[in-house]
Amino acid sequence: MTHSPRHFIDLADFGGADLKAILDKAGALKRVRRTPEAGKPLAGKVLAMIFERPSTRTRVSFDVGMRELGGETIMLTGAEMQLGRGETISDTAKVLSRYVDAIMIRMLDHNAVRELAEAATVPVINGLTKLSHPCQIMADIMTFEEKKGSIRGKTVAWAGDTNNVLASWIQAAPRFGFKLNIATPEELAPRREIIALAQREGADISWTSDPYQAVERADCVVTDCWVSMGDEDAGRRHNLLKAYQVNKQLMSAANSDAIFMHCLPAHRGEEVTDEVMDGPQSVVFDEAENRLHAQKGVLAWCFGV
Ligand code: CP
Ligand code: NVA
Repeated sequence: MTHSPRHFIDLADFGGADLKAILDKAGALKRVRRTPEAGKPLAGKVLAMIFERPSTRTRVSFDVGMRELGGETIMLTGAEMQLGRGETISDTAKVLSRYVDAIMIRMLDHNAVRELAEAATVPVINGLTKLSHPCQIMADIMTFEEKKGSIRGKTVAWAGDTNNVLASWIQAAPRFGFKLNIATPEELAPRREIIALAQREGADISWTSDPYQAVERADCVVTDCWVSMGDEDAGRRHNLLKAYQVNKQLMSAANSDAIFMHCLPAHRGEEVTDEVMDGPQSVVFDEAENRLHAQKGVLAWCFGV
């Protein structure tokens, strides 16, 4: 009998309870890390990791996470594979499924990742596409809740570009029940239908071009780089986004106990100042650490352990 593999492609594919269960598992694995209780639930399992774009956190957290769960990894880059010479994504998926037990992929083309998942007979995990970064937002919500309790009913403010990380925050909002205030320049605003979809799903989301308005009463201020992988109009983006820098002044317009998050890598002096990155409200390195724990929660869910 065959059953569908458990893919982790977009937060929108899940209900809130499932995502919460993955985070509960991540928390449990974090607590028993490096103790005999941790066990080796993925012993004998192999994860193939395909990177078409650079990565520090995603690559290392999946690799270490898989090893800590008792499994092994194979690191591949698109250019070194026959994918780079035109082998189709679906043939690649079918072949890899015969060798490995799960595939994690970072590739800008979101549809290609979906295609890979459709053809694969093992779980496929989205390690970032141009359209979403679900693993990051799992770690972010885990971090928020460790610092400030349940995110339900709290306010998260985004100041910056509309990109893959924001898209996953938007998908998370109705599923975790937090308020999301988005500030971007008008020219870079999220597509109206994306916000409308999340609102139909019950999200409390607003958009403004004024970053000060967005951070008012926020429990958490989030930003990301102004130029994401694959963006070609760096100069234009820098000009448009200057006013959205998260600096001390903007942070002081949020709640006094607000935290600051950034998926990293940060471009200090651009989207965030040193003062905020290294300041008392910043939780960015705990957030980066939680990539490891959240990834382990996702892996455990994909493998059903
Ligand atoms: N935040 C994040 O995904 O970082 P990497 O690009 O280093 O994986
Ligand atoms: N928005 C960024 C995230 C990097 C982790 C990018 O896509 O480059």
